[in-house]
Amino acid sequence: MAAWYDQAIIYQVYPKSFKDSNGDGIGDLTGITEKLDYFTQLGVNTLWLNPIFRSPQVDNGYDVSDFYAIDPQLGTLADFKALIEAAHRRGLRIVLDMVLNHTSDQHPWFQGALQGPKNPYYNYYIWAHGADGQLPNNWGSFFGGSVWAQHPTVADRYYFHLFERRMPDLNWHNPQVRQEMTKVANYWADLGIDGLRLDAFIHLAKADLHQNYPSDGADPVVAEGMFANLPAVQPYLAEFVAGVKANHPDLFILGEAASATVNLAADYTRPAANMADAVISFRYFPTKPRAKRDAVPADYQPQRLDWLAFRQVMTDWQQTLLPPRRLTLYWGNHDMARVATRMGSHRYPQQSAKSLATLMYLQRGLPVLYYGDELGLSNGTLASLAAFGDPTVTAFANAAKAAGWSSERILENVNATHKLTARAPLPWSDDIGHGFSKVAPWLAVSQDGTPVSKQMADPDSVWHHYQQLFALKQTPLFTRGNWQLQNWAPWLYAYTRTLGVETALVVVNISDTRHTVTVPRAWAQAPVQQLTVGAVHQTAAELTLGPWSSAVLTIKKGSK
Ligand code: NOJ
Ligand code: CA
Repeated sequence: MAAWYDQAIIYQVYPKSFKDSNGDGIGDLTGITEKLDYFTQLGVNTLWLNPIFRSPQVDNGYDVSDFYAIDPQLGTLADFKALIEAAHRRGLRIVLDMVLNHTSDQHPWFQGALQGPKNPYYNYYIWAHGADGQLPNNWGSFFGGSVWAQHPTVADRYYFHLFERRMPDLNWHNPQVRQEMTKVANYWADLGIDGLRLDAFIHLAKADLHQNYPSDGADPVVAEGMFANLPAVQPYLAEFVAGVKANHPDLFILGEAASATVNLAADYTRPAANMADAVISFRYFPTKPRAKRDAVPADYQPQRLDWLAFRQVMTDWQQTLLPPRRLTLYWGNHDMARVATRMGSHRYPQQSAKSLATLMYLQRGLPVLYYGDELGLSNGTLASLAAFGDPTVTAFANAAKAAGWSSERILENVNATHKLTARAPLPWSDDIGHGFSKVAPWLAVSQDGTPVSKQMADPDSVWHHYQQLFALKQTPLFTRGNWQLQNWAPWLYAYTRTLGVETALVVVNISDTRHTVTVPRAWAQAPVQQLTVGAVHQTAAELTLGPWSSAVLTIKKGSK
């Protein structure tokens, strides 16, 4: 049976950067409520909000200190209820971001756990002993350094953190932890939310901690084999989801599965297994290998998408996650540079923004749009490396300096690749503070880009392209139709969608150059051409596309 979320078009709201309603420079829940008509005008029907729970904001809300409270910076429970009510009145669904793998070190559970093994919360976290100042093992954290942090007062006692050191991992082996987290999810589901985005769920299980991961150096190593996608994740996830869906069978479970391969994604979305209804993997964007002689680490250097590998990845995912499984379709999120910066053309920014959108979102799957991408925004800029407050940036800068890079070049590279510069306040207008806030925003980032007000008034804007694209996406051909890649030329990304007698061909020139391709007879001068971007010219045997041009051609069997 089809679920409501089979029709979902998801807009990811980064609450702190969306709209400030009370003039403190921080976006908030009331700001979102004020702008609800914006979403219906654009044509999305589901909002995913990055975490809104009480948090010291070490990791912008992914460090939760109270799962039952709204962060005061973002508003109150009353504001949240008002948002849900107003959203539902407009037919908009709300998906909350739920952090399962860790808490803030300020969470009362962790504060209790610090008291020692006799405290009932000690086993809510993961502890190990080091010997004589040695760390328990050599595993590395995603945020740099070791996964182990020393207990503040007890020698040789360490707690485990995969992310920032102030974000200790929960011990999912402990049934009480699993029950508590199910209780949290039910609390919010009872308040009427429509779905949960499960943060980092693939890390819930860890291997035996008493072993090093093979490595050729002394530095900690990010040992994904020890803490990502282990088989025990699946029963943990299934127990959690069953515990929430028992009372809320329509709740949409969107899992963040950053390093999941396509086959793992198929496992996590096994029909009727009470796991995820869809997952978001970060494996969609293979990049070209870098030159071997480059001594500077890759992390903050722009990488070029390998288009052939990308076509192969899309084909693998489309053909493996066949219905009733679902795919997600996205170009970016708060953890990566914006699509316009990573993938867009400098010569054709408008056309590439539109054509990239067509390319991605008319495929089979659920669109997930990162706020601001509907304006074609690129990464903003921070004025200094220090403003990133990120030790991995410092490490990169040191290596780049040693290799002779100038400070300007280092900063430019970090601005173009960092996740923080993709989290700038949304420009609503040309008014003071871009219509986002009357005061300086929480993040001192400068952001170019045409604001919402201007784009909504311009029928040729990127915004209007998205509006038309989403209207088309809602039709049965583009929600349910079969997908097949058409590998006709390296400069062309083309695929067909077929449902019954109707077939659409989506063609996108992914280059800065005009090109012509010979097309199969069926496509010669296809009668319907929609959503055209740039110059698209059809003849009896050929299709010519200008730089970053694209179109949707449709034929019905028997129409020729
Ligand atoms: C994934 C989130 O998307 C990211 O922003 C966060 O830092 C980590 N999980 C830790 O919660
Ligand atoms: Ca505010």
